[in-house]
Amino acid sequence: MAIIAYKCPDCQVTVVDINPERIDAWNSNELPVYEPGLDKIVKKTRGKNLFFAKDIEKQIKENDIIFVSVNTPTKTFGTGAGMAADLQYWEKTARQILENSQSSKIVIEKSTLPVKTALAMEKILNSAKGKIRFDVLSNPEFLAEGTAVEDLENPDRVLIGSHETRSGLKARQELLDIYSKWVPKEKIITSNIWSAELSKLVANAFLAQRVSSINSISALCEKTDADISEVAKAVGMDSRVGSKFLQAGIGFGGSCFKKDILNLVYLCSYYGLQEVADYWESVVKINEYQQDRFIANILCSMFNTLAGKKICILGVAFKANTGDTRESPAIYITRKLLAEHAEVIISDPKALKNAAADLAGMKGSVKYVEDPYRAASGCHALTILTDWDLYRKLDFRKIYKSMVKPAFLFDGRNIIDHKKCFALGFNVYPIGKPALSHFQTENNS
Ligand code: UDX
Repeated sequence: MAIIAYKCPDCQVTVVDINPERIDAWNSNELPVYEPGLDKIVKKTRGKNLFFAKDIEKQIKENDIIFVSVNTPTKTFGTGAGMAADLQYWEKTARQILENSQSSKIVIEKSTLPVKTALAMEKILNSAKGKIRFDVLSNPEFLAEGTAVEDLENPDRVLIGSHETRSGLKARQELLDIYSKWVPKEKIITSNIWSAELSKLVANAFLAQRVSSINSISALCEKTDADISEVAKAVGMDSRVGSKFLQAGIGFGGSCFKKDILNLVYLCSYYGLQEVADYWESVVKINEYQQDRFIANILCSMFNTLAGKKICILGVAFKANTGDTRESPAIYITRKLLAEHAEVIISDPKALKNAAADLAGMKGSVKYVEDPYRAASGCHALTILTDWDLYRKLDFRKIYKSMVKPAFLFDGRNIIDHKKCFALGFNVYPIGKPALSHFQTENNS
């Protein structure tokens, strides 16, 4: 919404939320999310044509276009628990729009939703008799965290799904006019509403599938002396495959991939397509396998006991350039390390607050130390779990000196110079590459 306000000075954009503290934070000097470049844009537009407000009902009344971006978490109860999307917030919002509208409106699905959700929303919205009309559009969001501003300013594509009726096409055109203010026409694609809804789930499933594919091969590399970076490079140079999203690691995290794939799996099962459901579910299974493999490797390399050992976690965010820890592999790995009675010291430049909230109430010893050198000092092992650029530039000689020997280094993101760290004295365990160990009895492959 900030980007729309920034690119379309003629539009007045108001953001509402049921959480008043969140709105206060958006109106303050410290935004509630860390997203490179967003501060600047919010500061330029806030109070001019971008507003953050608490009076939801009044704003529904006064605005012509409503983007609904409420959360659609995985259902935790009843039919489809653990798989299907929980649509209660969306439905409540639809009813609230209906109750408070005195004029016709365009309602846009921004949240990621299962196919055919728009149909249910339309039924609710158009249940009132009278002259007011609601046109529902699907406009899924493809931005990634950490690069949100960049992705919104230069999107690969903008997708608008609508009914192909007269009023559906008119509504589609209105949204198209907004995006055309900064997005080249050829990048704005239109489709029927169901294709738009499904495309978002499928786009995320394909991206996650690439990560699981390369991670599955990393396990094979560790057994065969092949190097996953070399394999990924050779495979990715085929222009039909492409080089992006082939970085092996500890698995994908974030609020979208797992949730959206499970939602897709549920949809496939619902329509009786069990083989298709199983195929996509395996992407999530490989992701869990990759994290379990990483923990098993730590345990086995450190002589099968972690009790009382200090393990430093560098990076707890689910990826670099964000403070978000939702579904972060680092959180899962921390829980497992605590279960082994290890003492965990977590370092991260942006995500410590969220990590502390995620791990609140966990039994065991967890400390949060922002400075990576202080965090690593006195530890038995270092694990790199987020691909923050600053970890590539650390002085590993200094870190090595401050650690308990033998010092272990588990690079869960393959971002540092393994040979150099091995030469400094570390026992180095990358992903999908032979371990570099100083222990003579161990076979380095
Ligand atoms: C994703 C989609 O990219 C975006 O289009 C959609 O709108 C929302 O979901 P996001 O969750 O912000 O975005 O992060 P993304 O960059 O896709 O990374 C997801 C996870 O995969 C991260 O944990 C990342 O570290 C991991 N990943 C990504 C890898 O492990 N290897 C890769 O090669 C790429």
